[in-house]
Amino acid sequence: MDIHSEKILILDFGSQTTQLIARRVREQKVYCEIHPFNLAIDKIKAMAPNGIILSGGPKSVYDADAPKSDPALFELDIPILGICYGAQLMTMQLGGLVEKAAKREFGKADLEVKYTAGVFAGMETDHPEYQVWMSHGDRVEKLAPGFLVSAISEHSPNAAIRHESKPFVGVQFHPEVVHTIIGNDVLRNFIFGMCGCQSQWTMHSFVESAVKAIQKKVGDGRVICALSGGVDSSVVAALVHKAIGDQLTCIYVNNGLMRTGETESVLRFFKEKTGLNVIHVDACDYFLQELDGISDPETKRKRIGYGFIKIFEEEAGKFGDAKFLAQGTLYPDVIESISFVGDTVIKSHHNVGGLPEVMKLDLIEPLRELFKDEVRNVGLELGLPEEAIYRQPFPGPGLAIRILGEVSSERLEILRAADVIVLEEMKKSGLYRKTWQSFAVLLPIQTVGVMGDERTYEHVVAIRAVDSLDAMTADWSRLPYDLLGRISNRIINEVRGVNRVVYDISSKPPSTIEWE
Ligand code: XMP
Repeated sequence: MDIHSEKILILDFGSQTTQLIARRVREQKVYCEIHPFNLAIDKIKAMAPNGIILSGGPKSVYDADAPKSDPALFELDIPILGICYGAQLMTMQLGGLVEKAAKREFGKADLEVKYTAGVFAGMETDHPEYQVWMSHGDRVEKLAPGFLVSAISEHSPNAAIRHESKPFVGVQFHPEVVHTIIGNDVLRNFIFGMCGCQSQWTMHSFVESAVKAIQKKVGDGRVICALSGGVDSSVVAALVHKAIGDQLTCIYVNNGLMRTGETESVLRFFKEKTGLNVIHVDACDYFLQELDGISDPETKRKRIGYGFIKIFEEEAGKFGDAKFLAQGTLYPDVIESISFVGDTVIKSHHNVGGLPEVMKLDLIEPLRELFKDEVRNVGLELGLPEEAIYRQPFPGPGLAIRILGEVSSERLEILRAADVIVLEEMKKSGLYRKTWQSFAVLLPIQTVGVMGDERTYEHVVAIRAVDSLDAMTADWSRLPYDLLGRISNRIINEVRGVNRVVYDISSKPPSTIEWE
């Protein structure tokens, strides 16, 4: 069922900023989807988008293996915005000429607007140039028949183009990038002015239509869901619960590797505040046994992963009538975007593996079309507490991969006590939400210290705090020295068995965020 009354289709030609285009469109409260450049024309017709954006891409339009649009795209009578490669491709496919530019443009450039309608509506021709972001080696040399120039830059006489009678526009610059000061205006003019969208994509409308779609799919069937306490699974549980109430059963597997008070707060919230049916499986002993004597990080991860599936299956098996499994798959996991390796176009399709393949249940993935910040907004819309919504990410294998060497209940206790201090101090300082992750790591070494008149020989705790946008890369956080000092003092004074605290100043890559 299509729950979107208006939408923009983004055809991906392999640009690194394609997802950013989608983010910008959605910020305007307009729903959009990214699809590979060669999405079949029948599918596009069936989708009936209000407008189409052709993304940038790393190829040259005149390369033999350059990705091309289906020419039928230009006969659909749907507004089209070509960005960089997209604009060049539109030019070439409609009969113009694109060539290698004598001078490539990378970075900031000044745009002089010559036509103040279409995507430049509301702008001025006598304006001192508008700053835009360019990144191209080719340029439009000769316009396709029927096209006119809308803006120029020093090295691009056709920096923006438009068709005189059809709703086709092209820009050489990247409106989706923040350095393009007029980027949002250009996109807004396209989406609202040219495509007639009306900002119907709000989290409120999303919840309403998702609830209807879940009810329709599930009927009177039973749904199960693995609740971890993380943002995604919490939002899925709350959303599905809103749709079908008692037909949803959540299974919370306590692996004993959670932080202080975590299990209790998740269970308390869901049981008391939402009336959600949560089965709490206490598997702490099982996981401790599975990890007994294991120091190798990969073995730890595997044992925890298999253990989780085994226990979840056992529990879910008790609901023989369950037909559906609800999962917190997000949009970045499902975007079927294209990428290039050398000269070959490859399709990288992420499937979220794991449970469903083993369990043969129908999937319900109501967050499939959302980005992380949208998931958070849905959570707020559903009344989840801010504390749960703005939680920093926490890895599935839990504290086991933050205890270097063997995991034991004693070592878990030390790490929990240190970790809770890090989190408390981060929250007090107001830096918790600004920091991607901040946590303690227990090292497998002991060092000499002195407390009172006594020599000590105890554990070392490392503090890890990183700034990141997506965890693919990360920089160590420049936490204030005073804050680090307080954390260190408190850990050494309050946590028995620790006499030294160190701060991790490595970035990813080459390090990773977690230590194992
Ligand atoms: P790394 O350590 O690879 O971590 O830089 C990147 C991000 O992923 C989280 N992480 C995990 N999350 N299961 C998860 O659900 C895992 O096995 C896992 N390992 C790492 C990590 O916390 C960081 O946010």
